[in-house]
Amino acid sequence: RIPEPCIVVIFGASGDLTKRKLLPALYHLDQSGLLPEDFAVVGVARRDLSSTFGPDMQDGILKGGGVEENDPKLAPFMDRVKYFATEFDNDEGFEKLKAYLADLDTKLNTKGNRLFYLAVAPEFFADITHRLGAHGMAKPAEGENHWVRVIIEKPFGTDLESARELNDAVNAVLSEDQIFRIDHYLGKETVQNILVFRFGNGIFEPVWNRNYIDHVEITAAESIGIEGRGPFYEKAGAVRDVLQNHVMEVLSFVAMEPPDSFQADAVRTEKLKVWRAIEGIPVENTVRGQYGPGNVDGKDVIGYRQEDRVSPESSTETFAAIRLEIENWRWAGVPFYLRAGKRLAKRVTEVTVVFKQPPLHLFKSNNSDDKIEPNILTMRIQPDEGISLRFGAKIPGPTTNVQPVTMHFSYADAFGKSSANGYERLLLDAMLGDATLFAHRDGVEATWALFTPILEAWAKKAVAGFPNYAAGSWGPECADELLAKDGRTWQKL
Ligand code: BG6
Repeated sequence: RIPEPCIVVIFGASGDLTKRKLLPALYHLDQSGLLPEDFAVVGVARRDLSSTFGPDMQDGILKGGGVEENDPKLAPFMDRVKYFATEFDNDEGFEKLKAYLADLDTKLNTKGNRLFYLAVAPEFFADITHRLGAHGMAKPAEGENHWVRVIIEKPFGTDLESARELNDAVNAVLSEDQIFRIDHYLGKETVQNILVFRFGNGIFEPVWNRNYIDHVEITAAESIGIEGRGPFYEKAGAVRDVLQNHVMEVLSFVAMEPPDSFQADAVRTEKLKVWRAIEGIPVENTVRGQYGPGNVDGKDVIGYRQEDRVSPESSTETFAAIRLEIENWRWAGVPFYLRAGKRLAKRVTEVTVVFKQPPLHLFKSNNSDDKIEPNILTMRIQPDEGISLRFGAKIPGPTTNVQPVTMHFSYADAFGKSSANGYERLLLDAMLGDATLFAHRDGVEATWALFTPILEAWAKKAVAGFPNYAAGSWGPECADELLAKDGRTWQKL
């Protein structure tokens, strides 16, 4: 399906996200013939960037990959990329923006349909939404039947209370079906494929439960540091930045019951049930870390506290790991271990499902400790996207000994390399009005309800001993102890 004619209005046009992700994603959609012909992008920011905006965005598109400089679609696309400068708290600016968009509608036949994208710092979410309402841009005018939708970037709140306040503020202006709370992990093919893998195949779902699964690990490891985002990260930390949103979304796909359709309401309901079935995460089942100086990919790097605009005594966590249980029929008693961190040994996001051992060991292993390894199913979200299954095979020869081997599916081999960045699908869905892959009010509050007590407990008790892991390692020792308490170790990635 191709969306109806519309204007995508991006607040925060001068930001990194707009250049590195949003414009390349919109361009990829255009290349694939998935944008309507009557279409425009309007970047809105506070500074006057009218002369540099276009070239800058084109640069972002070219760097995003998958596009040649002489691509015939590039120039016509760039013609439809516009810029508008206003302060976000300036009523006159909003009135002018409204007139500017109406004028574009006339020139480009975009029919009054709007997709506003709030790619700004979170403190502006409520204000911008409020002004859109106050200036008659949040709803179609009486008697008109165009649509208005608003994508809101993360972080959606910093704890339960602020998330509720933000929900109240945006719900005061927009109905829930106009709000698209984005989590770009849900735009990733490999994350969506978790559902296809589970519910589009017959053989995995019967074993996807406490009878066969020993435990599940989800790792979101990054080798990069905070990339100059000191002021943001100081207030965020690994839980607010990645665990409460990206990792919890992945968890919900791994653990949810089959929805009765692949429609927004059905999927959201099942995700919510997973989060609500987690009956609190005791603080003893959480650990945090902060990177010190170290070596990543052969390069010496500074520690978190030495990063630009970071306090030299910062207690912000750059690593967090938790153990939780989902107390429902399917998962009772199965631990889920989740971890996320910056400046770890390598970039890898992965779901590891470790199965229970067979009831009897008939064979010997070739390990020194004679342990038969469990079956392990690995869903690699990124990079080297794919799925592998580890199982024991007979080592050829006169004895019947077992060695683990791996069966592997690679996205690149099966489907070719893709330069999609996750935002394509989500932008397209928002233009089509499909909220299946977006967060809902209740879901956001449910995950914050789980993490807020942890963050509060952490805030009360500063950690002695930060930094507690070297950049380039696999995180602090306490993360290993979290699993060691259960007699387990993290899978080697
Ligand atoms: C963002 C976080 O939401 O996700 C970043 O703010 C993080 O800190 C990024 O690096 C990770 O996204 P991806 O797609 O690179 O895994």
